[in-house]
Amino acid sequence: MKRITVNTARAYDILISGGLLDKAGELSRKVNGGQKALIITDSNVAPLYGGRAADSYRRAGYDTDILVFPAGEQSKKLDTVFAFYARLAKNGLTRKDLLVALGGGVTGDMAGFAAATWLRGIDFVQIPTTLLAQVDSSVGGKTGVDIPEGKNLVGAFWQPALVIADTDTLDTLPCNVFTDGMAEVIKTAAIKDASLFELLKNQASPLLEDRERIIARCVDIKRAIVEQDEREVGERKLLNFGHTIGHALEKYYGYSGLSHGFAVAVGMSWITKASESRGLTRPGTLSRLNTLLKKFCLPTDDPAPLKDLLSGIMLDKKRAGLDIGLVLLKSIGQSFIHPVPIDKTTEFLNAEGSR
Ligand SMILES: NC(=O)c1ccc[n+]([C@@H]2O[C@H](COP(=O)([O-])OP(=O)(O)OC[C@H]3O[C@@H](n4cnc5c(N)ncnc54)[C@H](O)[C@@H]3O)[C@@H](O)[C@H]2O)c1
Ligand SMILES: [Zn+2]
Repeated sequence: MKRITVNTARAYDILISGGLLDKAGELSRKVNGGQKALIITDSNVAPLYGGRAADSYRRAGYDTDILVFPAGEQSKKLDTVFAFYARLAKNGLTRKDLLVALGGGVTGDMAGFAAATWLRGIDFVQIPTTLLAQVDSSVGGKTGVDIPEGKNLVGAFWQPALVIADTDTLDTLPCNVFTDGMAEVIKTAAIKDASLFELLKNQASPLLEDRERIIARCVDIKRAIVEQDEREVGERKLLNFGHTIGHALEKYYGYSGLSHGFAVAVGMSWITKASESRGLTRPGTLSRLNTLLKKFCLPTDDPAPLKDLLSGIMLDKKRAGLDIGLVLLKSIGQSFIHPVPIDKTTEFLNAEGSR
């Protein structure tokens, strides 16, 4: 088992290994002394892992209840969180008790937001069950919901008390959901770690035979970034590599045609094409990046016209003032922020031969 300690304002451990789900209650006991636990999970994960998780919390002495919401991003809204509050109230969870998020990023973001706001903050434990949630969304303390005006516009920074990533749970993921998470894995390697990039290149199976090691490396990279910049004012922006264009593509397709990871894959490829053609990125980087994306069945191009993506790019909430901070690769494993004035963004992306 790998244990990574995140030293944010409130320190917590991330445990990564197979076989952890049945120990979740006992592991949670070490960080929380409450009487009650509410497990929040979605309708796909509940029949797979809900019973085992609930049994584990009961064995650890928690008076345990489980709340199941309909799976999918469309559930990630305040109405769903209101249902969580209602159950928390009905069960009388106090500030000492525990909320458990069992599922992917949707579950973690919403349960985390409920934990941040219920009684102004109670403990929560994340049990991420998608690759994306294990390497990305369960690390860093961002929680929140979508509103009709945009994704993740309402939220809070709230660190979990513990993260339990059972790598065995990834075995039941639909292929496309696993692939989606691979985009964040490749992103992490591309911005920070050339040796992880090589390790990915050498994986015989697209489902990763070195899973524990790869997930732990991604988590550790995100940990280091988050510790330095808990509230995303500097270094943490590097994690948005591929995301400015990615978010715009997701918006262009109405958040249903192209999944997040696929959109980010295209975003990483396009931005690197533009930066390499402008001499800001070492020659050959694009080709290495595209080869790895393709190996994991991720796209490197999309027919969406750039001009139709611009409004999405402008709206990207990560933009600072009149400049957009584009995350670029210097080479594989090294990244930097390149500020571009908003009105020059299309020109930058349209660099000679880049699209
Ligand atoms: N907080 C953060 O820092 C952060 C970072 C990145 C993404 N996010 C958020 O994460 C969300 C996306 O996360 P996601 O891709 O995990 O989505 P998700 O939670 O919807 O999970 C994807 C699908 O996989 C199913 N599933 C989950 N685990 C399973 C398992 N082990 N076996 C079978 N099916 C399983 C789910 O029911 C769902 O249908 C978005 O809302 C995004 O905004 C948050
Ligand atoms: Zn992402």
